[in-house]
Amino acid sequence: MIILGIESTCDETAAAIVQEDDFGVKILSKNISSSAEIQAKFGGVIPDQTAREQLKLIIPVISKTLDEAQVTIEEIDAIAVAQGPGLIGSLLIGVETAKALATAWNKPLIPVNHLIAHFYANWIGDKDLFPKFPCIGLLISGGHTDLILMRDHGDYEYLGGTRDDAAGECFDKCARLLNLPYPGGPNLSKLAQNGDPKRFELPKSMWYSGDLDFSFSGLKTAFKLIVENDLKLQKGHFDKEKNLWIQESLESQLSSEGLKNAKDLAASLEQNIIDTLIHKSVLAIQKHNIEQLLIAGGVASNRNLSEKFSCIAQEKKFKLFIPAPELCTDNAVTTATAALFLNKPRKPQEVEANPNLSLKP
Ligand code: KG4
Ligand code: ZN
Repeated sequence: MIILGIESTCDETAAAIVQEDDFGVKILSKNISSSAEIQAKFGGVIPDQTAREQLKLIIPVISKTLDEAQVTIEEIDAIAVAQGPGLIGSLLIGVETAKALATAWNKPLIPVNHLIAHFYANWIGDKDLFPKFPCIGLLISGGHTDLILMRDHGDYEYLGGTRDDAAGECFDKCARLLNLPYPGGPNLSKLAQNGDPKRFELPKSMWYSGDLDFSFSGLKTAFKLIVENDLKLQKGHFDKEKNLWIQESLESQLSSEGLKNAKDLAASLEQNIIDTLIHKSVLAIQKHNIEQLLIAGGVASNRNLSEKFSCIAQEKKFKLFIPAPELCTDNAVTTATAALFLNKPRKPQEVEANPNLSLKP
């Protein structure tokens, strides 16, 4: 079975071709075109502008992916597309392109929930190494922080999630408060590398709630108060004349002592988020008596996070699955792989972009 996957939920435009055989799942080709330079210019994602860019990118990305996989259109068994959640303008470009191709090439079209697709980064490679059900899934992306109990392909139970900001959103918003350039999460993590994670005591929201929900907005507020009161940074602003997001770098605004404070604060935030994610994941494993944990989503590409989770997996004796960093962030490989396992084709005219899809029932 060979599947072409298409994904355009946020600022990326991606295509991939994957093949399932007797040995497992192989990536034949994968491409991502990102408009990150444009986002950096504006300090974040501007939905209309992003969608306009994706419209230009989608066909070249698919063509390149087909060329690189060296498969003919006849050899493709189905087309998979991320149906949502995401930005509606961006989603429409991927979904309508997939519908057009499925109709023109007379192929089955498999719509995929992008959140579930993230987990399928753990079902690539040798099939003997695939996760076994039941397992706990932790999704940590820019818009979602969710825990699910996966019983089988397509059969899962929602256990809990964030009541306000997502973990990735917290990284991004705090990065913005520190005037770090887009993309915030990875840049904040870079700054945190030489910081002291014990220096600032930040609140661990819902630590003792006993349930599997999260809250990160209080953490963000606590971070903001420290930035404003202790670091005294000048905020970035949008310059209408220059049509550009202007912000002074940390180095140019802070003394070396101030810069040390910023690094310690970034490290304290990163540690706090990782601790909370570990705490609730272990709680989910214990509550449901499960031996495997799957992590997925952009935040899972954080190295400090994967190291800390690996240590705790050894200590608590559960098996941990974390995808390679490039398969944690948005990509079309996971879209195509999810379609391989969930395989629910629909008529193209029945498939619609759905920006509000979630994991909650
Ligand atoms: O899964 P993803 O690529 O897109 C969504 O579906 O949201 O996740 C993007 C999120 C962003 O919030 C980004 O800042 C965060 O993942 N992220 C990171 C790192 N790399 C990406 N957060 C912390 N550390 C990283 N190294
Ligand atoms: Zn995503």
